[in-house]
Amino acid sequence: MTTFWSAWVIALIVINLGITFFLFLWGPRVEIPTQPDGTTGHVWAHGVLREGLHRLPTWWIVISALMFASGFAYLALYPGFGASKGILGWTSAGEHAADTAANAALEAPIRARVASQPIETLATDAEVRRIGERMFVDNCASCHGRQGHGIAALGAPNLTDGDWLYGGDGKAILTSILDGRQGGMPAFAGVLPDESIADVIQYVRSLSGRPHDGLRAQVGKPIFKANCAVCHGADGKGSTAVGAPNLTDATWLYGGEQAQLLHTVRGGRTGVMPAWRGRLSDDDARMIAAYVYSLSHPDATRR
Ligand code: HEC
Ligand code: HEC
Repeated sequence: MTTFWSAWVIALIVINLGITFFLFLWGPRVEIPTQPDGTTGHVWAHGVLREGLHRLPTWWIVISALMFASGFAYLALYPGFGASKGILGWTSAGEHAADTAANAALEAPIRARVASQPIETLATDAEVRRIGERMFVDNCASCHGRQGHGIAALGAPNLTDGDWLYGGDGKAILTSILDGRQGGMPAFAGVLPDESIADVIQYVRSLSGRPHDGLRAQVGKPIFKANCAVCHGADGKGSTAVGAPNLTDATWLYGGEQAQLLHTVRGGRTGVMPAWRGRLSDDDARMIAAYVYSLSHPDATRR
């Protein structure tokens, strides 16, 4: 704070507090002349209303005195009186640093075991899960939802159902977090004729037992083998190596309705899981991974 602004603030305080404090000291002592009947002589409404005189009540004086005392004490102890730092030397940055240090001291024993233990073991550790959950809410909930149930419109998968694009052991989850993932479902519009796309979609629907056109599904089967099996597997069960989803179960990343399937197969899909290396420390990522692992293994981790 420059000297000018410091002086400006001091002047404002002295003038404002000074005037009110002067009135406070002067008010209880001042002698106001009164008439013999005890009124001030001021009359309104043709003499019907006459102005009486009452001393300030003691409770009001006591409370005001206390408020002045605490106001002056505050300005002496804390920053506020111009550039004065106050007797206590308190700063908001200092309080924040002290709280952060206290928190780090609390976390230190927990963090000490984070680097050495496998994710699956960390997931059984309630304290690690608690920290992991907080960081999940801060960093991941915007896409995967507060409880990790995923948000289909973003193509962000449900992390609680035990169904994985890239694998659900601790190592695979940690890799997904640190290095990110990029789904690569190619667009088939222009590659396959519309008829064949319609056929293969019927076959895809048959894989998960959805209502479908049996004849078209039969035609679609060899099209699937020729164009899709390389990633989704001959049986359609998917591959965690390329992140191709299992098409035979009831779990959908983008949806199993006709229109959604048409959109997926014609236009392709490229879901992006951002990489967190550099933004999160390895320990932080491990604690989040432990929490994520526990979501789909509640029985094994939350005894
Ligand atoms: C910008 C949105 C977004 C954010 C933020 C995000 N994710 Fe993801 N995540 C995705 C998408 C989209 C996918 C699917 C990628 C794909 O389709 O290949 C994904 C995939 C994953 C997977 C792989 C799931 C599987 O089935 O194999 C894991 C694990 C995961 N995310 C965890 C996290 C965690 C933990 C965080 C927070 C540190 C996080 N994500 C933050 C969008 C996001
Ligand atoms: C190069 C590998 C590859 C090929 C070839 C491929 N896919 Fe995919 N497919 C993927 C990947 C990877 C995803 C996940 C995309 C994402 O994560 O955003 C996917 C997603 C899908 C989905 C969305 C599933 C859901 O849960 O919403 C459908 C449906 C699908 N593919 C069908 C097909 C069909 C039909 C063909 C053949 C005509 C095909 N795919 C060919 C890799 C492939």
